[in-house]
Amino acid sequence: MRRLLLTILSGIVALTGCSAQTTKKETNMKKKVLVVYFSHAGDNYSVGNINVGNTKIVADYISELTGADRFEIVTHKYDGMAYKPLCDLAQDEQIKDERPAFEGQIVDKDSKVLVAKPTQADFDNYDVIFIGSPVWWGTYPQVMFTFFDRYDLNGKTIYPFTTHEGSGLGSCVSDLRASYPRADVKKGFSIYGHEVRTNKAKVETWIKGLEL
Ligand SMILES: Cc1cc2nc3c(=O)[nH]c(=O)nc-3n(C[C@H](O)[C@H](O)[C@H](O)COP(=O)(O)O)c2cc1C
Repeated sequence: MRRLLLTILSGIVALTGCSAQTTKKETNMKKKVLVVYFSHAGDNYSVGNINVGNTKIVADYISELTGADRFEIVTHKYDGMAYKPLCDLAQDEQIKDERPAFEGQIVDKDSKVLVAKPTQADFDNYDVIFIGSPVWWGTYPQVMFTFFDRYDLNGKTIYPFTTHEGSGLGSCVSDLRASYPRADVKKGFSIYGHEVRTNKAKVETWIKGLEL
């Protein structure tokens, strides 16, 4: 009887000790954060011809503030295009619900390449994902939907952000939720494209208010 009691007791101690240890470990675990974004450098209606796209400026700043890795959705389809033909092409792609091809690498905050050709498993590594894009014709450029089709981010915490010239978030957040119905898609953040170079404080205030 005494031996039985002792066995039960030591079992409880072992269990409690174990769970206390797990809790401590979990508390110390830092969430892994990734910023996924698309951005178009070149002829821009509002800010002229730009070497670095507006959304990329915000994405880089988020990475700088949080230490997050980055994945840029790169497509060469629009390289060198003037604003008006690009608008026409983008509208046509949207009407036809096209899926333009893209490539991309996961890099760390210092732009060191971590994964040259990411697979689903590489995205599975992250807990929190920022998704950034310009608004094109009221929602995401079609290449964003190519990304959503290729990588499953259900189960992740997602913070959407856009740059725009009047539409705000447009229908990006609802379109993102439709693509990932089982993700925890948080309230989105938007900033005017012509503001990103002069009003970084706005991005900083948003980031500081998040529980990362
Ligand atoms: C093809 C195209 C369509 C656009 N459509 C919209 C739109 O519907 N609403 C809006 O507010 N801005 C629109 N814009 C402006 C961009 O959202 C804005 O300039 C954005 O900051 C560009 O970001 P980027 O430099 O990262 O590509 C459009 C721009 C382009 C090139």
